[in-house]
Formats: sequence, structure tokens, C-alpha cells
Amino acid sequence: MQFSVSRSPVAEEKTACAIVAVHATRLSEEAQILDKLYNGHLSQALKSGDLASKRGATLSLFMPKASRHKRVLLVQIGKGKSLSIVAFKSLMQSVAKAVHTSNASSALNLLLSLDVDDSSPRAIARLQSTIFSDSVYKYSETFSKQKPPSVLKRITLNCPDTATSRQVQIGCAQGKAIASGMAITKNLGDLPANICTPSHLAEVAKKLKTSSKRLSVQVLGEPAMEKLGMGSLLSVSAGSAEEAKLIAVQYKGAAASKKPIVLIGKGITFDTGGISLKAGAGMDEMKFDMCGAATVLGVMQTLAELDLPINVVGIVAAAENMPGSKATKPGDVVTSMSGQTIEILNTDAEGRLVLCDALTYAARFKPDVVIDMATLTGACIVALGFEACGLMSNSDKLSEDLLASGQASADRAWRLPIWDEYQPSLDSNFADMANIGNGRWAGAITAGCFLQRFAKDYQWAHLDIAGVAWNMGKNKGATARPVALLSEYLLRRAKQA
Ligand code: BES
Ligand code: MN
Ligand code: ZN
Repeated sequence: MQFSVSRSPVAEEKTACAIVAVHATRLSEEAQILDKLYNGHLSQALKSGDLASKRGATLSLFMPKASRHKRVLLVQIGKGKSLSIVAFKSLMQSVAKAVHTSNASSALNLLLSLDVDDSSPRAIARLQSTIFSDSVYKYSETFSKQKPPSVLKRITLNCPDTATSRQVQIGCAQGKAIASGMAITKNLGDLPANICTPSHLAEVAKKLKTSSKRLSVQVLGEPAMEKLGMGSLLSVSAGSAEEAKLIAVQYKGAAASKKPIVLIGKGITFDTGGISLKAGAGMDEMKFDMCGAATVLGVMQTLAELDLPINVVGIVAAAENMPGSKATKPGDVVTSMSGQTIEILNTDAEGRLVLCDALTYAARFKPDVVIDMATLTGACIVALGFEACGLMSNSDKLSEDLLASGQASADRAWRLPIWDEYQPSLDSNFADMANIGNGRWAGAITAGCFLQRFAKDYQWAHLDIAGVAWNMGKNKGATARPVALLSEYLLRRAKQA
């Protein structure tokens, strides 16, 4: 998708689809210009009642032959003057969908003057271009016929003011980079587990290198992890024929003395539950259990394209959780890389077992902050549903920064407590800790408390993305959340948001 900014008068623009706002029953300024140009065609359509009053409703009008604006897409904004960023995101998603249905090859976006929270023109442009670029994503890898690519190729944003138009240009380029990372994340999430194995994740990580000279990749196999004492991570892959991989992608955009931001992703390429086998219904969805890893790889791609002047390390802890004669059994005790021993009471609580060794490994990069992402608990979905990911952290500052980044990118998180009072729930009679809490209450939090025990030496945050990383049901598929949240956080750290 190509983006350009134009400063021409609205009436003189040439496009396959002009997108204009309607506020309840009133045409926006830009819509009025087109209404005049086309002899009241827009206001007549509006009077007919064909545009629903619900925000996000659209109505596509085909204009007379030889018009400069081949189509006009009316978009219902609703009564209010300003929109929240989250409402704006869902509005733009309906707009992108409507443009695709219309078969237009180009679109002129005249929605830039909308008042969205207190977002800057750069931030609004960033979100718009993210949504448009992301809207062309199609999964076709495992179909016998490739799906045809989208016909929509070019978006022009009309912006008369020179200073603002520069900001809009920057925002568009950033959005494109974010969507490019999202495409990697979605594709990895959507790929079946017989293709997307730990080794596949390692191959994809190695390929990232080609997008920037600032990237380097190291992959550790099981013998190397054994040497490091990663008994916890290795206990998860023990029942699988697929070799576990620990992948580290380093991005060096600043002086070596600058401490890196470390991102860690849970990469369970399939979660059967292991010997604590899951129920059969819906088990296919457990191919998405590597969405934390996919997010890390997607964000590294975005980072490379944005060329940000910061240091970042992406770590992926990849394994397949299978039952088998060598699989870990409930009651087994393993020793983690940190030296702490763990009684594995439930082999289905495997995410924390791979993450804890990755958290210990992360210390060698002398991190400024560490953020892990994981489809860790069903309990987090019970608590927050599909709207927000669960944020747990030992740092108020890092929490605030992440919450603000989520809000600004309409990819929100919500903080849950990890007070010491929850810790005794992890007590074990046979090891330093158990891998599950005692009882089913506060399951997202006890998982966070488990991880906290391995993140003692740095500022750390954990994002439980079980509810946000994919859509269930008929529109099953990866969402690429929270790539936008993290990209926003990195842009802010680089002072480029
Ligand atoms: N990958 C699952 C969590 C999950 C469940 C994500 C449903 C998305 C949808 C994780 O490995 C798991 O199985 N967690 C258990 C933990 C329990 C055994 C303490 C869970 O949530 O039931
Ligand atoms: Mn599990
Ligand atoms: Zn899992």
C-alpha cells in the first residue's frame, strides 16, 4: 500500500473513492464541497435515509461518468464532536472494509480533520495507515490456490496545511512499518503447528536480518540450553519430537553503552497440555500459543523498518508441549536456570516454564526493562475478555508507560496486582515452588507471581495476551495484538511517537 499526502483543493483531487464524514444528519465540510460539485447528490442520498445512524456505518455512492471522484464513501461519525481513539480505530476498520468491497484501486482520505481524543496529526495518520495497510492481509499459505491480492493500492490523505502534512507523512510511514510487523505476526499465528514449529520460528527470525544491518540473530538448540541449565524450558519440549529453540534477535540502533529493552515471547507452537492433556474441543486453537513469540518477531521487523535509535533484544522461547513417553509428568521436579526448583503439578501450565528460563537468560543483556508477552492463562480471558491484555509488573513507571502506549495505539492493556499476598499460593511440599497456584482463583495473577520470582534484577512487565492475540469462532485468526502497543512504546522511547 502506498500513501501520499496531497494539498490540492478537495474538488480538484482525482480518486477512485473519496472518503468523507457525516455527522448524524450533517455533511462534513469536505462532503459539502463534493455535494456542491455533484449537484446535491450527497445530501439527497443522506435524506433518503440509506446511511444508517450508527457510528461506522458507510454508504458508497457511484458518481456520474467522467467525475474526478469516481465514488464517494459516506461515513457515519455520529453526533459527538470528538471520538475516542478506540472508537476511531473501529470506525477506520469499517471504512477500510467498505473501500475493499467497493473494488476501488485508490482512495482519498478526507477524514483527517476528525477530532480524536488529544491525538496529534502524526499519531492519527499512524493509526490510519496501520489500519489500511493491515486491511490487505490475507492468509493463503495453506490453500491450494493463492488468494488474489487486494486491488486497493494507493491512499491519498488530503491535508492543506504544510506543517501538518509533514507530520502526516511521517505518521503514514510509521503505520506502514507497524503493519508490516503485524503481517509477520498474523502469518505466524495463522500457520498450522505442523509448519510453524520451533525450528520454523528460528528460520523466520534469521530472515529478519535481511531488513536491517542493525539486526543479528542467535539460535540455541537443546544441547546449548542444557549447558545453560535451562531445566524448566527443556521439561516442556521433553515429550515432543520437535527440538526446542531459544532465539535471540538483537537490534543495535544506539551506542553499546545504552541498556537494551528486552522483549520476550512465549513460543509454544502447539499446546496439547502435555500429560495434563487438554480437552479435545477447540484444541486446534492451541496453535496460537506462540502469539507472544510472533509478536516479538513482528515488532523486531517494525523496529528494523523504523530504524529507531535504541537498543532492543527480542527473545523467543519456543517449544512444543506434547505428551509422550519422555514427557514431563505431574509431580516431576525440575531445576530452572536460576537454580530455583519447580514442582510441575500441571504440565498444561507450560508457558511460565519456558518463560522463567528466558527471563533468567535475559539478564545477560543487562536490560533497562524486560517485557514478556504470553498467551498464558485462560483466567486472564475470564478477567478481561477480549478487550485488554493483562499487565503485571514490578515497576509502576514501566506499567504507566505501557498503559499509555496501549491507550494511544488503541491496543489497550489493564493492570492486575501481583501483591506478595498471592505468593504463598505457589508453595510446594517438594520444591521451591509449584508451577500452578493452589486453587483456581486469580489464575492470571498467580502466573504473574510465578514469573516475578525470575525477574528480580530488573524492571519487568508481563503482558498476558491470551484474550487479545486471536479471534475465536467463525473469524478465527491472529489479530497481531499487541504489536501496535509495543511499537508505540518503542516509538515513545525513541522520542518519535
Ligand atoms: N496456553 C494456555 C492458556 C490459554 C488458554 C490461552 C485458553 C488461550 C486460551 C496455557 O498454557 C494454559 O494451558 N494455561 C492453563 C493454566 C492452568 C493449568 C493453571 C489454563 O489457563 O487453564
Ligand atoms: Mn497450557
Ligand atoms: Zn499454553
